[in-house]
This record gives sequence, C-alpha cells and structure tokens, in this order.
Amino acid sequence: MKPLETYDGTIERTLFTQQEIADAIERLAHSIAADFAGQPLLLIGVLKGALYVTVDLVRALSTVAGGPSEIHVDYMAVSSYGNENRSSGEVRMLKDTMQNIAGRNVVIVEDIVDNGLTLDYLQGILQQREPKALKSCVLFDKPYNRRVDVHVDYIGLTAPDAFVVGYGLDYQEAYRNLPYLAQLHSWVFSEKTD
Ligand code: PRP
Repeated sequence: MKPLETYDGTIERTLFTQQEIADAIERLAHSIAADFAGQPLLLIGVLKGALYVTVDLVRALSTVAGGPSEIHVDYMAVSSYGNENRSSGEVRMLKDTMQNIAGRNVVIVEDIVDNGLTLDYLQGILQQREPKALKSCVLFDKPYNRRVDVHVDYIGLTAPDAFVVGYGLDYQEAYRNLPYLAQLHSWVFSEKTD
C-alpha cells in the first residue's frame, strides 16, 4: 500500500480536502433534513462510487435535529457502456433496490454527475415506480459535459473539468479509498494500458 499522500506520485493535486467534503455533506444533510422533516426517508446509493458518500450522509442526517422520522438505506448498481473517457449513452442496471419504493420519499445519492446519463436513467426508472417524492443528491457536480439536462436537487461541491479520483471515485478501481478528492497527473491515464 502506497502512502495516501502521494499514491506513488500519481496525484497532481488535492481538489477538496477531507474536511471540505465533510462540511459539504453536512450542508447536504441539513438541506435534505429540512425537506423531509418528520417524514420517513429512503436513501438509494448508487454503487460503487456513492457507497462512501451514502454512508457519511446517513450518519450526518441522523444527527440533524428535526430531520426525517426514519432513515432507510438501499443500493442500486448500474454500468454505462463505452470506454473510460466517453460513455456510449447506454446505461444498464446491474443491481436493483431490494425495497419497494412506491409511495415513499426517496433520495438518489450519487458521488458524481458528469454527462448526466446515469442519473437521468435512474430518475426515469425510479419515477415509474411512483414514489411519493423523488429527489437527487450529488456530492460532486461536473457540469461541463452534460449530454442530458438532468435535474439535481442537492449539490455538494462543483469539481473542475479534470479527471478526478478519491472519496469513491476510481481510476481502474484504484483510489476510491482516498479520503479526499484529487486530480491525477494526465500521464497516469494516458500511459497506463492495462
Ligand atoms: C460514476 C458515478 C456515476 C456516474 C456518473 O459511476 O458513480 O454513477 O459515473 O457519470 P455520468 O453522469 O457521466 O453518467 P461509474 O460508472 O464510474 O461506476 P462506479 O460508481 O462503479 O465507479
């Protein structure tokens, strides 16, 4: 295991520190808590990247006074086709929720929205199931390359137009464990071929 600070020299810079991310999640928790005060709430995290923000958001929400009456958690997994840099536009479900969402207050939790296709797909299929309310929460927004005009109700931080990793976001499955958001040196993804 390489030291987290350098990660073998592949990290160019830190974009958001662990504390800045924690503060953003706290703000998101307060916004969501205000909208669902006194009501039960189901958070649906989108694997694998949003596992991290979902857990931290649930913990933050649980400490907000006057927030939801109950908090339930479920997960979905989807994959988008295409290469690493460009999605084909086709999103496929790999794992559905285990709970019925009809008539319930639901918040989709994503780590990042980039071209918007994944969140647009999720909103479409979940809306068909007639939840009482359906909102979307995204920790990192990258609004530069949208291919669909997807609506996001809660946005934590706006990331720069760069290849970002950490706090759930990966490059070839590495870096998810970083507690901060980082930008990789461009040589990492231009030279590595496996
Ligand atoms: C990431 C992220 C979102 C999606 C956003 O998932 O977690 O689900 O991409 O991208 P988009 O707005 O361009 O559709 P990814 O497909 O990398 O899977 P992972 O979460 O398992 O890493």
